[in-house]
Amino acid sequence: MDTTPSRAPDVVRICLPDDAATMALGRALAPVVRVGDAVLLRGDLGAGKTTLARALLRAMCDDPAMEVPSPSYTLVQTYDVPGKDVPGEGGQVAGGQAERGQGVEVSHFDLWRLDGPGALVELGWDDACEGIVLVEWPERLGALTPPHARHIDLVVRADGGRDAILRGWGADGRAVACGLGDDTKQAGEHA
Ligand SMILES: Nc1ncnc2c1ncn2[C@@H]1O[C@H](COP(=O)(O)OP(=O)(O)OP(=O)(O)O)[C@@H](O)[C@H]1O
Ligand SMILES: [Mg+2]
Repeated sequence: MDTTPSRAPDVVRICLPDDAATMALGRALAPVVRVGDAVLLRGDLGAGKTTLARALLRAMCDDPAMEVPSPSYTLVQTYDVPGKDVPGEGGQVAGGQAERGQGVEVSHFDLWRLDGPGALVELGWDDACEGIVLVEWPERLGALTPPHARHIDLVVRADGGRDAILRGWGADGRAVACGLGDDTKQAGEHA
């Protein structure tokens, strides 16, 4: 997998030649996603947002065969990630709502069909942000976009692969990019 550090600070581009590479990126991100994080997955229809979120969720739950349906009709699917040792900002456990080893709720949103920001609040956005949120079509968040969000833009390449552009991940983004290179499909994982 080709990874290219960008000249812009805090921006990393990762070439994903096939869906196995997208899943490898999802798995690589699992250890660095923390309580209170908002991971915004931007990209055209079919860019690979759900593929990435699915691999990330399966890795967080340590279950490579876990059912992770696209939330395109339900708008949100929630997952209890058991026993994840997830520190918040500054290495502290965030807000006391997830003690070490107690687990955290991860909410996977697809806002393509969202009917305005009011509908997002009704879906439980505020509570979801106390845990971890993964958001497809984050353009729909508008003013509710978390200022500290971690961004992943998926761009379809002319050769059919994808480029992932990571912004807001700091040193984690660079570490993930450096750690990738083996896009071997994890045993038991299927798209
Ligand atoms: N790096 C990649 N190279 C080629 N194909 C990929 C790559 N990553 C994912 N795909 C494929 O792209 C297709 C669409 O993926 P996916 O459903 O995850 O997209 P999406 O962005 O969630 O779409 P939507 O906008 O409809 O929610 C799938 O067939 C998936 O296997
Ligand atoms: Mg999707």
